[in-house]
Amino acid sequence: MAKICLCLTAKTIERNLEILNKYRKYADIAELRVDCLDADERFLIRRFPELAKIPVILTIRRDVDGGHFTGGEGARVNLLARGLAFAEADSRMNFAYVDIEDDLEVPSLEEAARTFGTKIIRSFHKLDGIIDDIPAKIKSMQRSGDEIIKIAVSAKSTADVLKVFQASKLYPKQEKILICMGLYGIYSRILAKKFGSYLTYTSALSEIETPAASGQLDVQELAELYRFKKITKKTKVFGITGFPLKATISPWFFNTLFGLENADAVYAPFPADSTANMLALAEELDVQGLSVTVPHKETIIKGLSEYSLAVRSAGACNTVLRREGLWVGGNTDCAGFSDSLLTFINKKNLKHLKVTIIGAGGAARAVASEVFRLGGKALVLNRTIQKAKDVASLYNFHWAGIDEHGIKLMAKYSEIIIQTTSVGMDGYEAANPVERYNFSGKEAVMDLIYTPAETPFLKQAAAAGCRTLNGYDMVIRQACLQYFHFTGREVPKQFLERLNETGENSWNKIRMG
Ligand code: ATR
Repeated sequence: MAKICLCLTAKTIERNLEILNKYRKYADIAELRVDCLDADERFLIRRFPELAKIPVILTIRRDVDGGHFTGGEGARVNLLARGLAFAEADSRMNFAYVDIEDDLEVPSLEEAARTFGTKIIRSFHKLDGIIDDIPAKIKSMQRSGDEIIKIAVSAKSTADVLKVFQASKLYPKQEKILICMGLYGIYSRILAKKFGSYLTYTSALSEIETPAASGQLDVQELAELYRFKKITKKTKVFGITGFPLKATISPWFFNTLFGLENADAVYAPFPADSTANMLALAEELDVQGLSVTVPHKETIIKGLSEYSLAVRSAGACNTVLRREGLWVGGNTDCAGFSDSLLTFINKKNLKHLKVTIIGAGGAARAVASEVFRLGGKALVLNRTIQKAKDVASLYNFHWAGIDEHGIKLMAKYSEIIIQTTSVGMDGYEAANPVERYNFSGKEAVMDLIYTPAETPFLKQAAAAGCRTLNGYDMVIRQACLQYFHFTGREVPKQFLERLNETGENSWNKIRMG
């Protein structure tokens, strides 16, 4: 089991203890970041382990390494020595660990640490990228064999994380901590055990303005949602890939389910810049299944050995599974959409129904393929007419731009209207893409967006008396189908009932520093 370290970066000892006391149940170790303390508080560090009542790492991080210490090396060594001085026979009164940078050569400090059982974490930080030869770096940092080697680099791509992961497999007997800082490396922190790390650093993100390092997760979330302490080398890994993934609720959905079912599985966010490298990394990490989201749903298809008819029809894949050493793809958005729509209109198919599809992007493609499969006739309306034509021609549908002509045509395809663009979504333009369309009140109206719960488009439709549905039901249905693909089990009914009671307010996005 890898340990959870809570980084304490407050300005006073008192505040650090307050934070530690609130979150101690999640942490195995605390790190006192002396560099974050006010100058006069730095004189009080010696008694901290005794007050903290948990193994503590003594760290005085320089600004060049991402910390706040701006004084000279002499002053820093003095402070480190002060932290290690007057060691007690009862080791709980002393710092359990001291972080000494790879380039800090002060034998007396190391000797003081060793004499009283303070373990040395030999650290190296690179804030502007990764190191070319990580194995060589590990080798060069190996000194007496009783130290922990910490290498923290800034991953700028999925390929960077892959290199770090490959290096993590070398020197299996050497205790080490390998971290990829930044968004790309977030899963190196969650899957610390798989990365062969002795511990993972976290912050109490609800208590502080900035985390101790970029990409750190909240201590409570790591412990409770990701069930970090249960992750072993054998734990099955699933996750979601896309970019930047900051608003995804899937880690909450799947990890909550794994927790309820007590499954030996974890679901991590895998922000990725390249689907090819993501699949290579997933193979090395022995990932069993991935949800795929924007912007990778189309490009990931190239890396698949097999894929379903839904993927072929929609030109997009949102579910990838590892089957007998191969990557196979499916698209649960398609079935999630049609199950949701058919339930909403209380029909078994769309025969004899005329449908308007607004938009001609990836989501619209999946919708159009399903409308066709279910026997509906459609009009595809899009700002860029050529794209509307591209999608519509696949199914012999009509197409038009979102202009006067298009809006007029809508009246003929108005039994069901489905909005698939990003217009109206949180973070995008808060508008209705078909503002000039006059709803009669008889249309069944669906918007794939679920944040906000009611877009300007749905609001206008509801005001005219239409029945409306947002994308929440669809997203739950597609996630349930994915869960089935991943685990072979149905999502438990009680979980869905609880979701229905609380609605989209219960969905938690990833919190990351
Ligand atoms: P997705 O995979 O979510 O469908 P996408 O493939 O990027 O995302 O497609 C975005 C869709 O939203 C497109 O239909 C786009 O219209 P264009 O093809 O003309 O770009 C549509 N869209 C985005 N912003 C829009 C806006 N301000 N007004 C109208 N349509 C918009």
